[in-house]
Amino acid sequence: MSAAAPLAASGLRKSYGEREVVCGLDLALRPGECFGLLGPNGAGKTTTLRLCLGLTDPDGGSIAVFGQPVPAQAREARQRIGVVPQFDNLDPDFTIRENLLIFGRYFDIPDATLRARIPDLLEFAGLASRADTRIQTLSGGMKRRLTLARALVNDPELVFLDEPTTGLDPQARHVIWDRLRNLLKQGKTLLLTTHFMEEAERLCGRVAIMDHGRIIAEGEPQTLIAQHVEPHVVEVYGEAAPDWAELRGRALAERCESTGETLFCYARDPAALVADLDDRDDLRYLHRRASLEDVFLKLTGRELRD
Ligand SMILES: Nc1ncnc2c1ncn2[C@@H]1O[C@H](COP(=O)(O)OP(=O)(O)OP(=O)(O)O)[C@@H](O)[C@H]1O
Ligand SMILES: [Mg+2]
Repeated sequence: MSAAAPLAASGLRKSYGEREVVCGLDLALRPGECFGLLGPNGAGKTTTLRLCLGLTDPDGGSIAVFGQPVPAQAREARQRIGVVPQFDNLDPDFTIRENLLIFGRYFDIPDATLRARIPDLLEFAGLASRADTRIQTLSGGMKRRLTLARALVNDPELVFLDEPTTGLDPQARHVIWDRLRNLLKQGKTLLLTTHFMEEAERLCGRVAIMDHGRIIAEGEPQTLIAQHVEPHVVEVYGEAAPDWAELRGRALAERCESTGETLFCYARDPAALVADLDDRDDLRYLHRRASLEDVFLKLTGRELRD
C-alpha cells in the first residue's frame, strides 16, 4: 500500500458560466481520519467531491488520490474510493442484491469475489432478510443504508459521504453513525459532508467550513469552538426577548444575535444572564455549551441560502 495521502487537492477551481463555485480550495486528508466538509447550501461541497472523483473537470488546481492524479487517472483512483452520493441513485427496477451486484461489476470485481462480499454488505446494511426485495418498496432509511453498503462493494480505503443522513429519522441517523464508526475502526478514511453539526462534532476529527467556494475555517471541532465563540450560550425565547435583549441581554452577554423570536446570548460567564432570566416569567431559556453550529452560524451568517 502506498504511503501517499488519501486525498490531496490544491488550488482547486471550478466555474459554471460566469460563476466560480470552487475558488482555490486546498484539502489534505490524513489516513484513517473522518474529515468533515461543512457549508451552507450552494457552498460548493458536492462540486468539490465531484472534482476529487474526476466526475467534473477542474478549471485549475491539482488533485491526487493516494498519489494518483485526478482527473488523469480518475478511473484508477475511483477503484479505491467508495461513494455515497447526495441523492440516492439505486436502480428502482432491481432488488437489493441485484443493485449490489450491478454496482460491483463497474469495478471489474471477479464474480466469485463479488458474490462472496454480498452477505457481509447486506449484514452491514441491516438488510440481510430483504435481499430479494425491490428498491421501490424500501423506506428512505433502508435506501440510505443500502447506498452506504453499496459504497463498500469495492472494499475502498477512502469513502466520500455526501450528506449520508439527510432526511433520516433520529434512529436511522444513529444507525448510520454507528456504521461510520465501524468503518473508521477498520482504518478507512472518510470525507463527510453534512448539515448536521452534531453529526460532524461526533464523527469528525477535523472539519473545514466552506462558503462561496472557499474554506473559511479548518481544524478540530473543539478547537474551532474555542477559537470562534464564547463557551456558553443562553437561548432566550418569547415575544419579550427583543426588549429584554436591549434592556439586559446585551449588557450581560459578550454578544447577542437574534433569529425570529429566538435570541442567542454568547457569554464567557453565563451566571448573570441566567440569574436575570430566572426572574422573568414571560421568557423561556436554554443554557448550553457552545457547539460547532454556533461557529458555523457565526462564520456563515444566519441569512437563508438557496
Ligand atoms: N452542473 C452545474 N451547472 C451549473 N451550476 C452548478 C452545477 N452544479 C452545481 N452548480 C452550482 O454550483 C454551486 C455549488 O453547488 P454544490 O452542489 O457544489 O453545493 P453544495 O455545497 O453541495 O450545496 P448543498 O448543501 O445544497 O448540497 C451552486 O450555486 C450550484 O447551483
Ligand atoms: Mg451538495
